Amino acid sequence: MTTPAARRLSRVVLGLTGGIAAYKAADLTRLLVKEGIAVDVVMTAAAIQFIAPMTMQALSGHPVLTDLWDSGAANAMGHIDLSRHADAIVVAPASADFIAKLAHGHADDLLSTLCLARDCPLLIAPAMNRQMWTHVATQRNVARLLADGVAILGPGRGDQACGEVGDGRMLEPEEILAALLGSAQPKLLAGKRVMLTAGPTFEAIDPVRGLTNRSSGRMGFALAQACAEAGAEVILVAGPTALATPAGVSRIDVISAADMAAIVDASVAECDVFIAVAAVADYAPAETNASKLKKSDRALTLSLKPTIDILATVAGRRDPPFCVGFAAETNDVNENAEAKRRRKKVPLLIANRAHDALGKDENQVTMLDDAGTHPLPRMEKLELARRLVAEIAQRISGKSGSD
Ligand code: CTP
Repeated sequence: MTTPAARRLSRVVLGLTGGIAAYKAADLTRLLVKEGIAVDVVMTAAAIQFIAPMTMQALSGHPVLTDLWDSGAANAMGHIDLSRHADAIVVAPASADFIAKLAHGHADDLLSTLCLARDCPLLIAPAMNRQMWTHVATQRNVARLLADGVAILGPGRGDQACGEVGDGRMLEPEEILAALLGSAQPKLLAGKRVMLTAGPTFEAIDPVRGLTNRSSGRMGFALAQACAEAGAEVILVAGPTALATPAGVSRIDVISAADMAAIVDASVAECDVFIAVAAVADYAPAETNASKLKKSDRALTLSLKPTIDILATVAGRRDPPFCVGFAAETNDVNENAEAKRRRKKVPLLIANRAHDALGKDENQVTMLDDAGTHPLPRMEKLELARRLVAEIAQRISGKSGSD
């Protein structure tokens, strides 16, 4: 199925440079074609030592180009047209040598020439031995490319073809596709600073036990990713979760509701938008035992004290950012959520059934604002996050929301 992001990406140049990870580019081509994206494959002389151009041609359905000096090309400039018509150039794998070339603006083969003669985004997926990746020269070149606006995808960590273990593995084709689709999102929040809370909190009872909840953090992390894709500067205040930090997001890890409240309070003033997705504990133990509580035959009573309501506190500031809350309810969803929205004084609240969202990949929500309730169809959390970002962007730019 063609996704909305894929519709904005109709044609990409996929560049392959020399590296054993070139075999993964075959799968990436297949995934891109499945998304409805036309793929023009360009291979360097080193790349064709690792995978046959015929394989890439069969998978892309287009001739593979390898030579800058193809006299058969129209007016001998035909290849440059490739980057003129491309919505993005993706180089995967990108070798240390190719990265060095890009960083210095060389144009001595077709792929490096296309990378210079372009006005579309350039994304590169480095793949190399871990020592080559960590070498100061490579890191200097990567920093140069980042400063030049090139998106660096990965590399990942793990077993390497050379038998070593470390950073330098090319990202998997699915991860590269996801990053490409993300980079194609409209920059609806460019110039905006967004703070989000996500995940559960953990309220310590003693050094080894505590009170927490079943929030996975996935919805909050998906929203942080969608905000970053939309061009915002994103600060994600995350409770305990093993989720990976989305690209372009600054993450601050916290444990308890009090820690989360303190971090938010310290920097929310400079933010344009505050999105509270965290499942913050409403109560914390009145006291945390310094040593481990010992078992006994008697019933144990814990004394709990209420925590700070972070969202209500931010929304109650003198000059609050645009505040968005979430409400996971088990019954009378819209009524309970609307009462919560009014109590916390937030312009937009996203309501759902607790069992619809917790730990799931999809979610079905209803947006509540001053104009009423606006149900959205069930969708995958990242797709929902992108939709919510569009709704928030419309509201902060003064245009009306949902319908
Ligand atoms: N929230 C918060 N700080 C808290 C409690 C909740 O910032 N101490 C935020 C959540 O991140 C969410 C919204 O308030 O955006 C609603 O959270 P929810 O737990 O549904 O509401 P509560 O106020 O805790 O009400 P209740 O548990 O009684 O439903």
